Amino acid sequence: MLTRPIVKWPNRVLKLFPIGDQGSGPHARYGHGVLRAVYRGERVGGKDAWNVPEETVKQRRRGRTQPRGRQVEPEALAEVRTLLGPAPREREFLIEYLHRLQERFGHLAARHLAALAEEMRLAMAEVWEVATFYAHLDTVKEGEEPPPALTLRVCDSLSCELAGAPALLDSLRSAFPEARVVTAPCMGRCDCAPVVEAGHRHVDRATPERVRAAILDKTGHRVPAAPAGGYAQLRACLDGSRTREEVAREIEEAGLRGMGGAGFPSARKWGFVRAGPKPRYLAVNADEGEPGTFKDRHFLETAPGAVLEGALIAAWAVEADMITIYLRDEYPDAREILAAEIARLGSLAPAGGVHLRRGAGAYICGEESAMIESIEGKRGLPRHRPPYVAQLGLHGRPTLVHNVETLYWMPAILERGAAWFAETGRHGGQGWRAYSVSGRVREPGVKIVPAGVTARELIEEFSGGMADGRAFKAYLPGGASGGILPASLADIPLDFGKLEPHGCFTGSGAVVVLAEGDDIGAAALNLMRFFAYESCGQCTPCRVGTEKAALLMAEPAWDRDVLEDLAAVMADASICGLGQAAPNPLRCAMKYFPEDVGL
Ligand SMILES: Cc1cc2nc3c(=O)[nH]c(=O)nc-3n(C[C@H](O)[C@H](O)[C@H](O)COP(=O)(O)O)c2cc1C
Ligand code: SF4
Ligand code: FES
Repeated sequence: MLTRPIVKWPNRVLKLFPIGDQGSGPHARYGHGVLRAVYRGERVGGKDAWNVPEETVKQRRRGRTQPRGRQVEPEALAEVRTLLGPAPREREFLIEYLHRLQERFGHLAARHLAALAEEMRLAMAEVWEVATFYAHLDTVKEGEEPPPALTLRVCDSLSCELAGAPALLDSLRSAFPEARVVTAPCMGRCDCAPVVEAGHRHVDRATPERVRAAILDKTGHRVPAAPAGGYAQLRACLDGSRTREEVAREIEEAGLRGMGGAGFPSARKWGFVRAGPKPRYLAVNADEGEPGTFKDRHFLETAPGAVLEGALIAAWAVEADMITIYLRDEYPDAREILAAEIARLGSLAPAGGVHLRRGAGAYICGEESAMIESIEGKRGLPRHRPPYVAQLGLHGRPTLVHNVETLYWMPAILERGAAWFAETGRHGGQGWRAYSVSGRVREPGVKIVPAGVTARELIEEFSGGMADGRAFKAYLPGGASGGILPASLADIPLDFGKLEPHGCFTGSGAVVVLAEGDDIGAAALNLMRFFAYESCGQCTPCRVGTEKAALLMAEPAWDRDVLEDLAAVMADASICGLGQAAPNPLRCAMKYFPEDVGL
């Protein structure tokens, strides 16, 4: 039975999360989706469960006189059927079909969602909870106005905020009164800040004029050609020139570690997956959403063949017979490039094929178990572990999950030998790494350099120094989650295990550089708002903690005791890495920049 606090609680949360404003300000997924539905009573029949009128109870006992749930309009059902054609109706394709519906009709109308639920034999609630979870899906209830034809999404994550996103947002709202102008989190183009997405087209170094030109340009966006893969290393594996043991040894001796953030040794992960029963699967994590990170997009757009070859080699190494690539929705060019490269694979593909799936605007789906939930057509809620995805992953099978960059290095290591990789590195680092550098540097971009370089080296040697004669003040060594360090600590290697004693980590290698004049309290607040917005809402320390922290951090003087308490609960008691790492920038701001936060 429901108890009162459960129904009361979203009420409190909803005060914090203004609903209905899809991109401006924090609208946690629960505020936007499930909680909103619970709050409005949809999931308890519009009534408190303990307060159901007696007549209704009698009616239930007598049995239904009408079919259960919302009535499906025959016309809407026909439209859905025509749109889906002979495509399979399995649950795992739900997000793909929601995308198709939205592309065809401009939004997701309640009548189409009811028809889709009927067609896929799913409960209406399941379809709604998925559709409302993802930021890129626009649900519209009966009687509600559909969104305007044009949506402008203005990136408000840190690098874009530094480059003037707030002023740009205001000027776009005045310049395009007919459009829906909303904020959105990092679009993986931080080296070209500020960035706007007009429809499905990205405008780099955006100004109202550039945005208008992009909207008026009807020539069609041309996706740059990418070199096709040669797959020589894969062929050597498939024709027996190399054994699985040799390949695993080579990857191990190279010291290759996961570039998605955790830095787990790749060969060791292969061993865990291979220990599980067949069938096994490989899932490629191309959901790159950590603010400041854009290196995976670089590899997908410039070397899709190498990434796919790495995936095919890894799948062969663990005898996985199906590959699924989960690509974030913000990368439409990469989607086109990858689809073309997959189509060329022919007999090189494993028996179960190579499948491309797209996300729908949810950072949390980069967490591997949430990604698997999303591939299965569900909300991206991280799973409790154990069991790990290497044991019970996609469709309940042992699943190897790899980041795009990790896969990119695999064929290169096999071609040039483990020593080529292992003997590269600085300050004790091992291998090559792609760092995404943005913020106040003269030449932002992806820097493919020896692992273990320091932030000072990255700025001075590889990024043309500080921009506009600005003085170096601080940097994020690992995107939004990796903390913030002062320039005085810029000589620490950007490597796994080296930054942790300072309360930070290198994660996916996203380095955002801040200058004198930048307010570190404001930067940390920007990051905390991102976490509040992206929290899946599943566990209280993260859902409430991120939101409460953001409110407290908006004060001119921070309350150290309360914030430290909150940070400890979030770090210790959250289910997944999002909530556990969310306090890092907050703690660093208080530790290294007390004067910026009124302490
Ligand atoms: C909140 C959160 C977000 C994540 N986002 C990504 C991501 O966008 N891309 C990625 O490859 N890994 C991401 N990860 C790490 C993955 O869970 C996983 O460790 C990784 O994909 C494994 O591949 P690797 O061993 O090749 O790094 C994220 C982890 C967390 C906790
Ligand atoms: S820590 Fe945050 S994102 Fe992770 S499961 Fe909990 S609520 Fe969801
Ligand atoms: S694209 Fe705006 S911060 Fe990354």
